[in-house]
Amino acid sequence: MSEIEGIQQPSQGIPESTSAETYQVPTGFLANHPARPHIQSVHEYKELYQESITNPNQFWARQAREHLTWERDFQTVHTGSLLHGDNAWFTEGRLNASYNCVDRHAAKNPDKPAIIYEADERDGGEGRTITYGELLREVSKLSWVLKSMGVNKGDTVAIYMPMIPEALIAFLACVRIGAVHSVVFAGFSAGALRDRIIDAKSKVVITSDEGTRGGKIIHTKKIVDAALEGCPDVRSLVFQRTYADVPWTYGRDLWWHEEAEKWPAYYAPESMSSEDPMFLLYTSGSTGKPKGLMHTTAGYLLGAAMSGKYTFDIHEKDVFFCGGDVGWITGHTYLVYAPLLLGIATVVYEGTPSYPNFSRYWEICQKHNVTHFYVAPTALRLLKRAGDDWVKPMDSLRVLGSIGEPIAPEVWKWYHDIVGQKKAHIVDTYFQTETGAHALTPLAGVTPTKPGSACVPFFGIEPALIDPVSGNEIHGNDVEGVLVFKQTWPAAARTVWGSHKRFMDVYLNVYPGYYFTGDGAARDSEGYYWVRGRVDDVVNVSGHRLSTAEIEAALLEHPNVAEAAAVGINDEMSGQAVNAFVAIKNKDANDITDDLKKEFILQVRKSIGPFAAPKAIWIVSDLPKTRSGKIMRRILRKILANEIDQIGDTTTLVDPSVVDKIIATVGVTK
Ligand code: WT7
Repeated sequence: MSEIEGIQQPSQGIPESTSAETYQVPTGFLANHPARPHIQSVHEYKELYQESITNPNQFWARQAREHLTWERDFQTVHTGSLLHGDNAWFTEGRLNASYNCVDRHAAKNPDKPAIIYEADERDGGEGRTITYGELLREVSKLSWVLKSMGVNKGDTVAIYMPMIPEALIAFLACVRIGAVHSVVFAGFSAGALRDRIIDAKSKVVITSDEGTRGGKIIHTKKIVDAALEGCPDVRSLVFQRTYADVPWTYGRDLWWHEEAEKWPAYYAPESMSSEDPMFLLYTSGSTGKPKGLMHTTAGYLLGAAMSGKYTFDIHEKDVFFCGGDVGWITGHTYLVYAPLLLGIATVVYEGTPSYPNFSRYWEICQKHNVTHFYVAPTALRLLKRAGDDWVKPMDSLRVLGSIGEPIAPEVWKWYHDIVGQKKAHIVDTYFQTETGAHALTPLAGVTPTKPGSACVPFFGIEPALIDPVSGNEIHGNDVEGVLVFKQTWPAAARTVWGSHKRFMDVYLNVYPGYYFTGDGAARDSEGYYWVRGRVDDVVNVSGHRLSTAEIEAALLEHPNVAEAAAVGINDEMSGQAVNAFVAIKNKDANDITDDLKKEFILQVRKSIGPFAAPKAIWIVSDLPKTRSGKIMRRILRKILANEIDQIGDTTTLVDPSVVDKIIATVGVTK
């Protein structure tokens, strides 16, 4: 059976697209520009886009030679198909990711800033700047350390780090020696980290003693220690961030600073084939088990470099500030790889947008003359609500990006008017862990935008909408359906680590010949795309992608949970929120207390991580199930949305009366 069971009707609070106003490229954008945008007009975009779709081999060959430095040129541009899931790009080519991100810039401009680090305010907000020359030395030393720990080309290394420059150094050292990095977001629990270490067969985990974020200490090493209890052969390399006294396992743990000082400051980059795996990144899907999406070297790097250059219109003196965490794809592609491939400075901010106050992001933008700021709408909602007085005048800003979830038009307009002072171009970029780089997006300086729309396809992306009932493509404009892509592109993930069948079933076999995104979307009268949200059992909470199945599996680990169903509902602050319905066992009805609900929430925090905690738990006597045992989550969603009249047919349920009982529970407790 396929992992994608029922395609849901998308339901996000985005207004009808036809009524939307169009914003032209702000005149202030051009006035503030260091030169001219890389792409000069909508016409030029359309011509290049057309070439990328109708003559992809010619297009990608030229782009690959222009944006990447090759140790050996390729002869074949592309082989394989979406139908067979055997895509490969630039096959005979050889190159190294770290060389492309560091060496080629260090050779030309060793003193140019590469990383601008802003520490959490707990430490007084101190930071430091690392130049390309220094970065090459740091990355080289760590490369030696990893080699000395027995990490070889093709081995996997887990990275579980706070937002500090050493996280980027760890990424780059891995790819320098040809190791595959598997970054695990440092908000994941010990159990979730262990699962990912085991699945990826990581040999080493790179971490820190502690982290500090929003004034709070995070016990990073302790979480790693708990994770490693289940994997005796994995070693750890620990960076000293707070100098706290942390538990130590001799023979297993090594200090980063003690090892690094043993080794020279140049390490020759490993020669890699274009299709050698570069990294794994785990993400949530419709089933309980997270999938390790595998990205390969040349295609991914090309997607990162090109989208950095064209979506954001990056120029050589620009300063890029991505507020996303390195643990997600946004951080991988736009905090680490795109800015470094283009040889500009990337800001690494350790803290939160609200600590010590709501001006923190804007002060960083002012202090470092940030030209590009990129963040999830969830942070913008928070900052908008805090009030305009916190926003500072930031004259250096040229491009403001939004990522991770649909952005409501009023938040978009606030971003444009207040943060950007109507001078910066807003780019609402749509992409996924699986796409590697932007898929739908305006191009800064080029594309007229509409608040709430991710606009138009990036080069090489051929979007289409499918009717989920018939499975047929919906042609024309002013239509809505399931978003798919009709041809592949270099930065696409190649497989799910250790489970190619799952990759095929989830992405390529749903509609054979198409890549299935899992999102619903509309195409308006002018061909602009409006992403509505997921149509599968994935919930987007504050830009974090959560699987309801994974949350249910976590709840079931609690001894008093008999059955659980988690669903997403719209939420003003977090976009969506998770509510879980739980049928209990081994307990009397009288024992149902708020403490028990708290225990259930704690169970999810422990199994997955704090960011996955359900916002509400509803204890019910039974769940609405069909005779084949399938839980009808649609009914639960309708009840929570107070759309009782739209529940529909309940006669297929084993016991239709449970619906009224659940309505009573939700209604009474509300
Ligand atoms: C899912 C991918 C890619 C960055 C972080 C999330 C949603 C992403 C947008 C956008 C509406 C968006 C989609 C997508 N999403 N960007 N601009 N507008 N929705 O990466 O964890 O792989 O999640 O995030 O639902 O499928 P991810």
